[in-house]
Amino acid sequence: MRSELSHLDTPSLLIDVDRMERNLKEMADIAADAGVALRPHIKTHKSPTLALRQIELGAHGVTVAKIGEADVMADAGIKNIRIAYPIVGPEKLARLARLMESAEVSVSLDNFEVARGLSQLGESLGKKIPILLKINTGLARVGVTPPEAVPLGTQLAALPGVDLVGILTHEGQAMREHSLEGAKRAAREAGKIMVDTAEQMRAAGLNIREVSVGSTATAREIAYVRGVTEIRPGTYVFNDVNEISVGVASEETCALTVHATIVSIPADDRAILDAGSKTLTSDLLGGSPSNGYGFIKGYSNVKIARLTEEHGILELQHAKPTFEVGQRVEIIPNHVCPVVNLADVMYLMKNGECQGQVEVLARGKSR
Ligand SMILES: Cc1ncc(COP(=O)(O)O)c(C=O)c1O
Repeated sequence: MRSELSHLDTPSLLIDVDRMERNLKEMADIAADAGVALRPHIKTHKSPTLALRQIELGAHGVTVAKIGEADVMADAGIKNIRIAYPIVGPEKLARLARLMESAEVSVSLDNFEVARGLSQLGESLGKKIPILLKINTGLARVGVTPPEAVPLGTQLAALPGVDLVGILTHEGQAMREHSLEGAKRAAREAGKIMVDTAEQMRAAGLNIREVSVGSTATAREIAYVRGVTEIRPGTYVFNDVNEISVGVASEETCALTVHATIVSIPADDRAILDAGSKTLTSDLLGGSPSNGYGFIKGYSNVKIARLTEEHGILELQHAKPTFEVGQRVEIIPNHVCPVVNLADVMYLMKNGECQGQVEVLARGKSR
């Protein structure tokens, strides 16, 4: 399938293939240079095609949040899957058992109850399911505090149907920083907490082999913290306004844009796009409406000020650019992952031509 850009209907998600390839290679090179494993989180692209490309470039497996995402990756032949999310309840445990028939699966968790369910499953299958204890290094989501790691780790290690292989964190607190220096500091701090925690657990007799960390904002720094064994960035494949604001991406490294059309200019100070919250999501940069709902390339002084489901309302008063009905614009999303989640396909663009498409097969897998 080849077609001119102007033949693609809007709103559409377009991938600049050269930029994406550069992003993928850069992270693969960083992991190789630092001597750590790369296990990208597929939450950003949700596409087995792109996951396989990451593996081709050196990733040794993928990270997912949900069993439904893992199923899509396993169906595409991906053999090494880490579910960085607690698996709770008999339905999910039964699905995990089926998934484990076709892939090596490990699971992260932060409490004894979840580990006990996994251990019972492991025992019934005659296997030890690899688990990682999740540590809270500052995000305050799932995760135990470092002092809790030794006592809980000791309890987990005694369970017969699981193998406590390591510890894992998501240092998403780095996204609260507004400078590259801040993000680097957050990365070093999280890395040190993790390495120290692993050492304390080993000193208590626990066989901790993996120290898994890393997001797009921190990977370039935390990969080099001695003792870290794995990084799991996700957003780096495309980047977005969030990553630009932290200082780890630029307009030039953003590989996915939403193409939208001006469908109405009802007043001097207002124009309407055919992309609303159903396309761009309602994610605001840093939660603040002052930055709008995405960045329109070439129009830095035009704000996507409001969204309804099908309409993006542009505020023109500070700029008065000459828009025309029918004109197309390119938007870098604030947060690219949920934008991809709303699309069926992403178009692959090279030299202004569409060269194919990838299906977002793992979209909407909330279970
Ligand atoms: C557990 C976990 N690992 C890795 C990532 C990837 O982080 P990023 O998308 O910032 O690169 C995420 C993102 O939410 C995550 O939740």
